[in-house]
Amino acid sequence: MFQNLPPQAPDKIIALMQQFRADPREDKIDLGVGVYRNAEGITPVMRAVKTAEQQVWDAQTTKAYTGLIGDPAFLDAMIGLVLDDAVPRADIAAAATPGGTGAIRIALELIKLANPQVRVFLSDPTWPNHPAIIDYLGIERVSYRYFDNDTRAVDFDGMMQDLKGLRAGDVILLHGCCHNPTGANLNPVEWQAVVDHIAAVGAVPLIDIAYQGFGDGLESDAAATRKVAASVPDCLIAASCSKNFGVYRERTGLLMAVSSDAAKVKRAQESMTALNRLNYSFPPDHGARLVTTILNDPALRADWASELEEVRLSMLNLRQQLAAELQRASGSDRFAFLAQHRGMFSRLGAAPELIEKLRADYGIYLIGDSRMNIAGLNAQTVPVLAKAIVDVGI
Ligand code: LMR
Repeated sequence: MFQNLPPQAPDKIIALMQQFRADPREDKIDLGVGVYRNAEGITPVMRAVKTAEQQVWDAQTTKAYTGLIGDPAFLDAMIGLVLDDAVPRADIAAAATPGGTGAIRIALELIKLANPQVRVFLSDPTWPNHPAIIDYLGIERVSYRYFDNDTRAVDFDGMMQDLKGLRAGDVILLHGCCHNPTGANLNPVEWQAVVDHIAAVGAVPLIDIAYQGFGDGLESDAAATRKVAASVPDCLIAASCSKNFGVYRERTGLLMAVSSDAAKVKRAQESMTALNRLNYSFPPDHGARLVTTILNDPALRADWASELEEVRLSMLNLRQQLAAELQRASGSDRFAFLAQHRGMFSRLGAAPELIEKLRADYGIYLIGDSRMNIAGLNAQTVPVLAKAIVDVGI
């Protein structure tokens, strides 16, 4: 039977991660997979996470099952972090999921259950796993323009033109903050225009918020998601704790479904619970318990928020250093966009052959679409990268 399995194209981010690990060059630089690294190149366990782990170890007396939607205390704590008081708690159905990807997967399954003919609008470009999951589920997808390769900013006019194609009941996937892979984000006025249009058309937003705290700060990064949730009749929000709590391998996230109609919230909750059961029964608990412990303890929460802020500022600093270094190396301002972008990623807008040259000749790994993980840099590698970028002719 296995011979009948269709060949699977490897995910380009994960394939590059493996290629980097196999590269024997000592001075290789990994700017591929979206994982935060400190100046020493380490992805540290955050201080508050370590403390919470100790507390959980001391206090936990059982590993018996939680519930199909996870621990309600985790859901309440995360709803508070993402949505604050943008909508009443009673308007939100929620379920813990294995990471943000799990939340996206359950969201898309729920969308398909509600309407097998649904169309999902995706930004061009977007995180490659979005279209991959959508195609796997046999859902129709439509691209909308998002990134202007010349200015390396949002192509807002193109985006709004393409969103004219939205119809009532269509789903539109939006990145809540820190757009992956471009790093280019809508400003508040643009967000308002998008929300007004979606509300007028009657489309349903699905927000992927995986980098809250990595862009302009915990509150600013959630502002657009809160605005959307408060402005439309129904929306879905997939949130990840992988990056902002640094618990990547624990697979911690949640899906929220928001509606002001109590009957719709009940129906969404039933479906999310059933989909968790069908897919994996109970979502992972360890990472969720750490997050809950941190968010519900004022001292731990303050320590976590301050370490996250250090992480955010270090990435902003690297952006500024790289933009300045590239200005020196190239004698032009054409890389100024790097300091404007937010989050972990920036898209250089360079041809795949040049990105391959960076890998082959310099041991510098970027995703082939020219996405670069800023957090993979440090003060020593910034000038190395700047010189290589100019040398290869980007
Ligand atoms: C990324 O975009 O690099 C991260 O979200 C990791 C992943 O799973 O692709």
